[in-house]
Amino acid sequence: MAEHFAVTGGARLQGSVDVVGAKNSVLKLMAAALLAEGTTTLTNCPEILDVPLMADVLRSLGCGVTVERDTVAIDVPARLGAEADYRSVSKLRASVCVLGPLIARCRRAVVPLPGGDAIGSRPLDMHQAGLQRLGATTEIEHGRVVARGDVLRGAQIWLDFPSVGATENILMAAVLADGTTVIDNAAREPEIVDLAAMLTQMGAKIEGIGTSTLSVHGVTALQPTEHRVIGDRIVGATWAFAAAMTRGEVTVRGVDPHHLDLVLDKLRSAGAETEAGTQEFTVRMDGRPGAIDFVTLPYPGFATDLQPMAIALSAVADGTSMITENVFEARFRFVDEMVRLGADARTDGHHAVVRGVERLSSAPVWASDIRAGAGLVLAGLCAEGVTQVWDVEHIDRGYPRFVENLQGLGADVERVLTDPL
Ligand code: UD1
Repeated sequence: MAEHFAVTGGARLQGSVDVVGAKNSVLKLMAAALLAEGTTTLTNCPEILDVPLMADVLRSLGCGVTVERDTVAIDVPARLGAEADYRSVSKLRASVCVLGPLIARCRRAVVPLPGGDAIGSRPLDMHQAGLQRLGATTEIEHGRVVARGDVLRGAQIWLDFPSVGATENILMAAVLADGTTVIDNAAREPEIVDLAAMLTQMGAKIEGIGTSTLSVHGVTALQPTEHRVIGDRIVGATWAFAAAMTRGEVTVRGVDPHHLDLVLDKLRSAGAETEAGTQEFTVRMDGRPGAIDFVTLPYPGFATDLQPMAIALSAVADGTSMITENVFEARFRFVDEMVRLGADARTDGHHAVVRGVERLSSAPVWASDIRAGAGLVLAGLCAEGVTQVWDVEHIDRGYPRFVENLQGLGADVERVLTDPL
């Protein structure tokens, strides 16, 4: 038996939806807890599978972890294990973010290589180069990253590209290094600001938070803390696209609209009206969205995680859109599934050209990753008939209560358990 989502197209989404903490923040914050002995508590955590998986990674290092509804408590022992368990890490790519905290705390870290995935190859060269600049040695041995560094010393580090994961790992190693580390061309995603804010609460000394130059003055020890995870801007933006595509009106609560300045501007260019408060915003669309171009870039550029939503919107827009993907080379693979739904889309290298059609037509489609899956569901909302979206475990990894939230907004969507197609 396997689950799929049955999406009946045609509904106009209306109402309000609450968004909880960001997947891409909570997993790093859980790793950051390793930096201080004692109990760190995170609230507003999303109830998604990745959280218990990350809890298993931390348990394999000797921590006690309890996950209760939206609260995760991590009890970190004085002596941490330095070797992350292969089985836990292999299920969760993001668990590579324990590398920085482990080398900082244990002077040694062994983390299985997570490997590539459906959106493209995901090397760790910048993570390794950064740790090496701090004085660690890193090698790949038997499919694992093995890092050693008896003394970590502050250093000047230039990243070739503002990698989110590399910035996080280097930052988490640098907070306990000797002296000052400067990370140039650092990623500036709101999730990195959230991580830096939590590290600061724990006693870290970080300047330039939210900019592309982070200066970290190492301290000898950090204290555990209590922290509320920031709202998930990618989930919030998914609802914004859903509202615009279905010509509906949706209020999204729990996300800072400034994290979506560019997204909301793009939706206005497509004809939507938007209103923003402090932790909420509304998107309303009366007619058919107009075609607009999207270019994915590191924050504050248009997020690569929203590229499938951009393709889905373009597929039903009035006119032709060009979408350029600059972050993950294989992220257009899912476009073939959109074509199955009747989208007029062609890709060539980094570019996709999408000629909008009035209405898509339902088909069985397969989600290859979290965001591709969400994009396919949005397309299904604008397709005639019942679209079956398979491999929904990907969607469940990033979107808590996805079906329930869609139903709350008036969509005709069911989770169905049947024999696989
Ligand atoms: C994080 C997010 C992911 C998002 C991405 C970009 C998490 C769990 N995941 O992934 O949802 O799509 O940021 O916003 O937070 N690269 C290298 N060498 C490295 C590191 C990265 O070449 O050492 C390349 C990658 O292959 C990719 C680009 O840099 O092409 C960006 O990757 P990165 O910003 O590191 O993304 P992640 O942290 O893996």
